[in-house]
Amino acid sequence: MAETDTKYSYVTASAAKDFVEGVLVGNGVAAANAAIISDCLIKADMRGVDTHGMNRIPSYMDRVAQGVLDAKATPELKKLTPVVAQVDGKNGFGFLAAHQGMQCAIEMGKEFGIGMVSIKHSNHFGMSAWVVQQAIDAGMMSLVFTNSSPALPVWGGQSKLMGVSPIACGAPAGKERPFILDMAPSVAARGKIYKAKRRGEKIPLDWALDAEGKPTDDPSEALKGVMLPMGGPKGSGLSIMMDVFSGVLSGSAFAGHVTNPYDPSKPADVGHFLIAIKPDLFMSLEDFKERMDYLYQRVVGSDKAAGVDRIYFPGEMEQLRYEERMKTGIPLVEAEITALNAEAERVGSKPIVLF
Ligand SMILES: NC(=O)c1ccc[n+]([C@@H]2O[C@H](COP(=O)([O-])OP(=O)(O)OC[C@H]3O[C@@H](n4cnc5c(N)ncnc54)[C@H](O)[C@@H]3O)[C@@H](O)[C@H]2O)c1
Repeated sequence: MAETDTKYSYVTASAAKDFVEGVLVGNGVAAANAAIISDCLIKADMRGVDTHGMNRIPSYMDRVAQGVLDAKATPELKKLTPVVAQVDGKNGFGFLAAHQGMQCAIEMGKEFGIGMVSIKHSNHFGMSAWVVQQAIDAGMMSLVFTNSSPALPVWGGQSKLMGVSPIACGAPAGKERPFILDMAPSVAARGKIYKAKRRGEKIPLDWALDAEGKPTDDPSEALKGVMLPMGGPKGSGLSIMMDVFSGVLSGSAFAGHVTNPYDPSKPADVGHFLIAIKPDLFMSLEDFKERMDYLYQRVVGSDKAAGVDRIYFPGEMEQLRYEERMKTGIPLVEAEITALNAEAERVGSKPIVLF
């Protein structure tokens, strides 16, 4: 998994965090909120989910500059029952609304066994796994749903209607690695196409269709067309499920009306849905953790198919990448560094400090 390609320059997690915080504060975000947002973004970079890390800053700041994302907004949380809360994201950063929502879900879950939070009028919150990790750090299981802008056709359809909205969930373990599943219902996340475009790379032919409905390996052509759902009607069905729980239920936009995070013309109105569950409801915590460890060992110890060197638990590859990047730093290509530094220059914050 080593990244030895010489076209990369590297930045440490703490330097990347400082840089992102500087740009956010320069755009009017309160320092405490900037710390939360940068932490979520850099966690994505550290886990190798570079599609949803600091390289999103230029597009997010474009939205702030156009006045369609409120950099100063603080989400508002209302408790509805002892185990249910609602967050109004107030068109601020999705990271803040989801962070506050999961914090509340965790507190309710710890006291009553389960906590459920619906979030409306939010924005893109990047990689869902950071929300799952927030719950795991508190010793809790979680479900993390969001909807997103149209990117894939429903099964049998031609034009994009549903989002490639990730479904994510997690559970802590004992001495083994936690379970973290975080997956878009498309063959690949659309962010992977934006990343390939940024980096001048081609994409596999089964990821997307171009504007004429033909398979393409050109990321620019793919962005004019549609993403392909994974598993046909099942991927399409999962993306509709994300819209039911995150959009219909919350009061946010749904049915194809969420705005693309790269479109700075209007507010996004994203919805999220979060659940935190106490793992020691039906047995002792020790027993639960032992059973999770046993599951991990059974999965990674399973007999391997031909040509497979190692079996990974969901989320494990990203955790290994995190550990690797603690040593190597986060790789960036020249075009990404230039785009990021242009954001710093615009608001007079410090440029990115490379290794
Ligand atoms: N906020 C949004 O609107 C939005 C939209 C789309 C995607 N995303 C994010 O994009 C990211 C990437 O999504 P994706 O669907 O391309 O992810 P992916 O295909 O890289 O991984 C999906 C899941 O499969 C697991 N996995 C992958 N390879 C594995 C292997 N060899 N063995 C065992 N498990 C393996 C991963 O740990 C992960 O849990 C996610 O973090 C997601 O939250 C966000």
